[in-house]
Amino acid sequence: MIAKRLDWKAKEGFAVGRGATIQAFVASADKSKLEIDVMPWGEGYLRADGQEIAHINDAKDRRQAFRKLADIAERHLEEQMPESKTKKTSSMIPVAKAKLLEGKKGLIVGIANENSIAWGCAKAFRALGAEVAVTYLNEKAKKYVDPLAGALDSPIVMPLDVNVPGQMEAVFERIATDWGNLDFVVHSIAFSPKAALQGRVVDVSREGFLATIDVSCWTFIRMAHLAEPLMRKGGTLFTMTYYGSQRVVKNYNIMGVAKAALECTVRYLAAELGPKGIRVHAISPGPLATRAASGIPEFDALLDKAKGKAPARSLVSIDDVGVATAFLAHDAARLMTGETLYVDGGYHIID
Ligand SMILES: NC(=O)c1ccc[n+]([C@@H]2O[C@H](COP(=O)([O-])OP(=O)(O)OC[C@H]3O[C@@H](n4cnc5c(N)ncnc54)[C@H](O)[C@@H]3O)[C@@H](O)[C@H]2O)c1
Repeated sequence: MIAKRLDWKAKEGFAVGRGATIQAFVASADKSKLEIDVMPWGEGYLRADGQEIAHINDAKDRRQAFRKLADIAERHLEEQMPESKTKKTSSMIPVAKAKLLEGKKGLIVGIANENSIAWGCAKAFRALGAEVAVTYLNEKAKKYVDPLAGALDSPIVMPLDVNVPGQMEAVFERIATDWGNLDFVVHSIAFSPKAALQGRVVDVSREGFLATIDVSCWTFIRMAHLAEPLMRKGGTLFTMTYYGSQRVVKNYNIMGVAKAALECTVRYLAAELGPKGIRVHAISPGPLATRAASGIPEFDALLDKAKGKAPARSLVSIDDVGVATAFLAHDAARLMTGETLYVDGGYHIID
């Protein structure tokens, strides 16, 4: 039993107070380290020893989100006390009774941490019974990705910086050797140098443009090229896009241009690979507070607008994106391809 309430303290290095996008708190009990991140719109995460154990997005504000997560933390510790702590990693993966993707094997690229859209996808695919290979950007990222790969029971965990020649080929070679075939790929990466992303499109340098389109679009083409011979029985290729490809979204700038190219790429790849049973989709989530999003100025305003204007009056979570993506990998979706699927609470239909 827990003798007293946890003593939560603001996490060092994080901005706390009005105006801070994310507030982070930490508490210790026994040998566990508990962390809560809360956002102004009432979303929050609870982690125990670095692993996400709860996510809420229905609180009315940050304060209520914190109270709810602090209660969950207390219950979590009480549950853990009498027995061993062996259940922790598996508890990160939601339980789905119907293993609709059992027997399928896929590669997920783009997990940086437990806020990543790629992690939402990985959890959903795994919960539905698929096996997943994952990659991490570099040694610095590895320590965040390793525990997540452990929770996924990933048999293949490899470094992949798309700017390092040969690393992408090495990942697909390993999949060819170990698995011999591949059923899905989730490409969930994007990059733009700060000067390119935060400046006007009209001012973008050739260098900035090429770096943006290279990582954010061409790498998807390359992954499709390397996946094609492994998808002998068909398969599904996914990439992540954003509405800023269709409309001028303030501060999205050159990334909007790259996403427009990416969505067009999806259609051409779908046409070319369709006869082989390989389907290709772009998933277009509403805004999510991830590391990549932190490079976009005034992102809070974008979130507020999304929540206020979307018919669902709700922000999406990485889990919402994950299950929608996993559905499209199922054989039941075999006649859908070339799609840009919006997972945005309906935002894109409203003027
Ligand atoms: N967060 C949002 O609001 C939002 C909305 C729509 C679409 N998206 C898209 O979703 C995708 C995933 O982003 P996220 O929001 O989950 O953020 P994230 O920061 O969690 O993920 C971005 C990933 O890109 C990877 N990456 C960057 N440069 C790379 C390189 N050179 N080699 C290999 N990997 C590299 C990072 O390591 C990271 O894992 C991106 O394509 C992003 O544009 C994000």
